[in-house]
Amino acid sequence: MCDPKDAAARGALSILSELEEPIRVMGVGTGSTVDRFISLLAGSEISEGIEGYVPTSIDTGLKLYSRGLRRVLDSIPVSDKIDVYVDGADEVDPSGNLIKGRGGALLGEKIVAYSSRLNIIIVDESKLVETLGEKKPVPVEVVPRALGYVYRVLESMGLNPRHRSCSCKDGPAVSDNGGILLDLHTGPMKDPRRLDVELHMIPGIVETGLFLGLTDIVVVGSRDCSWRMLRFDRGRR
Ligand code: A5P
Repeated sequence: MCDPKDAAARGALSILSELEEPIRVMGVGTGSTVDRFISLLAGSEISEGIEGYVPTSIDTGLKLYSRGLRRVLDSIPVSDKIDVYVDGADEVDPSGNLIKGRGGALLGEKIVAYSSRLNIIIVDESKLVETLGEKKPVPVEVVPRALGYVYRVLESMGLNPRHRSCSCKDGPAVSDNGGILLDLHTGPMKDPRRLDVELHMIPGIVETGLFLGLTDIVVVGSRDCSWRMLRFDRGRR
């Protein structure tokens, strides 16, 4: 028996080792599955050729650095695209669309996902769903001064917003960017793309945890230590 997150992380490393093009700049996601990936990466030959890591959160930047992956970049290089991005997800639907942001890093993750040539998502089987919203809420990051207004609008849309509590302080969870994190308890979503557009039209919502059409590969880790790869047709960006 294995931890399926470890299996998924191993799968990603194996896929990376077989890529024909060199990896110079790597985007690194946030969360417990990525944590396993960082540990494996730190002991691998792949890391030797990497010139810079773009972390999606403060947490990931610190983890990379503390495990010896010290070429942590402050931002995405203007002259370069990110060659590969590896991240986890909260839900994955059969088309490779995702809910992300349980760790509050959705904004950093969305920016890196858009800037990367190849997006690899690593998950355990429990993250696979038929319809997004089945198990997990959709997070949104909100500018603090717009919170009251945004909250009311989200309620009136029937999206059941809840502010996320944080165990290390009283009150709502605040992102690395100073935004307030709300979770929308939508239930299974009929049209996530439309919802994403509607949410982006509300002034004060900075970003959503809906990652639609951004996935190239999903690596699914299993308890029997195996992993499998699902490919999607995002097209090279
Ligand atoms: C971080 O904000 C999230 O998007 C994570 O990538 C996602 O929640 C997956 O995290 P785990 O790998 O810890 O389940």
